[in-house]
Amino acid sequence: MVRYSLLAALVFVAGCRTQLPPSADGRKDIPLKLVDVRAFKMGQPDAVLMLTGGGGGLLEVCNCSGPMPGGLSRRSGLVRSYRQAFADTILVDAGDAFWIEPTDIRNEYMLRGFRQIGYDAVVLGDQEWAAGHKRLAEMLAVNKTPALSTTVIGPGVKAVRAVKREFARAKIAIVSDTRREAFHFVPKPVVSDLLFTEPVEIEQRIAELKSQGYIVVLIAHAGEESVEDMAARTKADLVVRGHTTRTNSKVATINGKPVVKVGGYEYVGVVAIKADGDKIADLEYRAELVNTKWPLDGKLLLTYQAYAHAAMMKALDAERKTGLEFQASASCGKCHKKQFANWKKTRHAKAYATLQKAKRTGDPSCVMCHTSGFGTKAGFYTFAKTKHLANVNCQNCHRFNEAEHRKKGFAIEPVGRDICQTCHTPITDPKFQFKAKWKKIRCPGHGESTDGEVASAE
Ligand code: HEC
Ligand code: HEC
Ligand code: HEC
Ligand code: HEC
Ligand SMILES: [Zn+2]
Repeated sequence: MVRYSLLAALVFVAGCRTQLPPSADGRKDIPLKLVDVRAFKMGQPDAVLMLTGGGGGLLEVCNCSGPMPGGLSRRSGLVRSYRQAFADTILVDAGDAFWIEPTDIRNEYMLRGFRQIGYDAVVLGDQEWAAGHKRLAEMLAVNKTPALSTTVIGPGVKAVRAVKREFARAKIAIVSDTRREAFHFVPKPVVSDLLFTEPVEIEQRIAELKSQGYIVVLIAHAGEESVEDMAARTKADLVVRGHTTRTNSKVATINGKPVVKVGGYEYVGVVAIKADGDKIADLEYRAELVNTKWPLDGKLLLTYQAYAHAAMMKALDAERKTGLEFQASASCGKCHKKQFANWKKTRHAKAYATLQKAKRTGDPSCVMCHTSGFGTKAGFYTFAKTKHLANVNCQNCHRFNEAEHRKKGFAIEPVGRDICQTCHTPITDPKFQFKAKWKKIRCPGHGESTDGEVASAE
């Protein structure tokens, strides 16, 4: 049973059949059962720095052969548990959060997830810049996850040069150094659009922050040797090595400088700091494994589901030359009267009313499956503007445009299981059975009565 507890949890947190208690703002929030965090030997730290990196676009783990560590929803459970235990925390990703194909839509969801977890910043590494400054700017603008880039500047990309926090007993500043050499696999034209500062300039900036009384953390997004070199020379108080998929269990010391190495989706590196003015008086480090001990954050699961839904739809429509021009079911129904009458009797025609009843019409993570084409150019936008696209309309299943299907020789594909499963997922419909459900919703054929027998369902 433990083995399948993830699935059970998925059903619990997002379960479309589960009625969740409404929170103060009228939305139904998923209660999170936070867990106790191990105390530090130093006692109560003055600041806690939480670090991730090198996630490589992985939103959730598959748990294929039993529970696996990682996934944004458990990471969120861990981070929230730490925030409950310690008031003064900072959470930063050291970069390479993006998938190997940096323009892939999953990266938008990665950034959305980071915002939901409440990251203070994501460092822009070579993987992020590899998307090209235009696409990167677009993704950051939509998702509003704060980006940190101290040494690389790209036209239009909004990034802060330093993250600064002033806590009761510690002032912490974080800067990043993403080196040109880390861009080894990034196409030259993409790199040539970017501006790199000289190493001396970052030391000037660090000196400036030191003079303002900050403990300075340098996130080095570079190869092993450069990091050693930086650690030996920098005036920063702590060096964090990104651009890796390995997390060390202990702090390394290079020329008396503490160096922490964090990467891969399985771990969150946690640094507890006792401050003495602008110096680190005491430092304790631990690599926290993102395992089942941490609670799943349902909000993040919904973000993962939104990604899966969008990616599946995209794959289904990959061969299309133009987007779907979504129209009202009634307008298809002008010619297909029988099918329209049938559709009106199905739950698909009442899907939006369900959200109205649940007071969740303002939640994109619900709207995407209970309307037509939400998130695409010609799809549902708001009820006021696109009332006719509320509900699961004809084109959610018949994925073509009216004009093209009436052209001679247009091959109309049967509506298969894959299409249903973009919405009937293991989360929303854990016991989905294609044949049984198909019988409930399939449209009547020519001259066939609504309750006529089906010949074949696949
Ligand atoms: C102006 C009339 C008209 C409109 C509007 C229209 N269709 Fe059709 N549709 C036809 C005709 C004609 C055919 C081919 C003859 C037939 O099989 O009914 C057809 C065929 C189909 C078929 C295949 C039927 C089969 O025999 O396999 C599907 C599915 C379909 N239409 C869905 C839609 C959808 C979805 C819409 C709205 C986006 C739509 N139609 C709008 C006229 C129309
Ligand atoms: C765009 C998303 C979407 C697609 C695609 C989709 N459904 Fe649904 N389906 C829903 C939603 C949302 C509901 C719940 C509607 C409500 O009651 O609010 C639903 C409800 C149903 C129900 C009613 C529930 C019940 O137990 O009676 C059946 C049956 C069903 N779908 C079958 C299918 C089948 C079969 C396919 C594929 C041929 C399919 N659906 C494709 C979103 C979708
Ligand atoms: C991935 C697509 C998807 C998302 C996202 C989604 N739903 Fe659903 N929802 C469905 C499907 C499919 C069903 C029908 C399940 C079935 O057939 O049993 C459904 C059914 C429901 C039902 C039961 C309707 C009834 O009366 O039987 C409710 C309530 C509901 N959803 C609310 C929500 C809310 C609230 C959200 C956002 C937190 C949400 N849904 C997000 C696909 C989705
Ligand atoms: C939930 C998915 C779903 C929705 C929504 C849906 N259909 Fe269908 N439709 C099917 C399935 C399944 C069939 C059976 C044949 C097939 O697999 O294509 C079908 C068949 C048809 C056919 C061909 C019937 C025949 O055998 O000659 C037409 C025409 C059609 N649908 C029109 C519509 C129209 C118009 C709407 C909207 C008012 C609509 N459908 C909504 C799933 C859907
Ligand atoms: Zn990198």
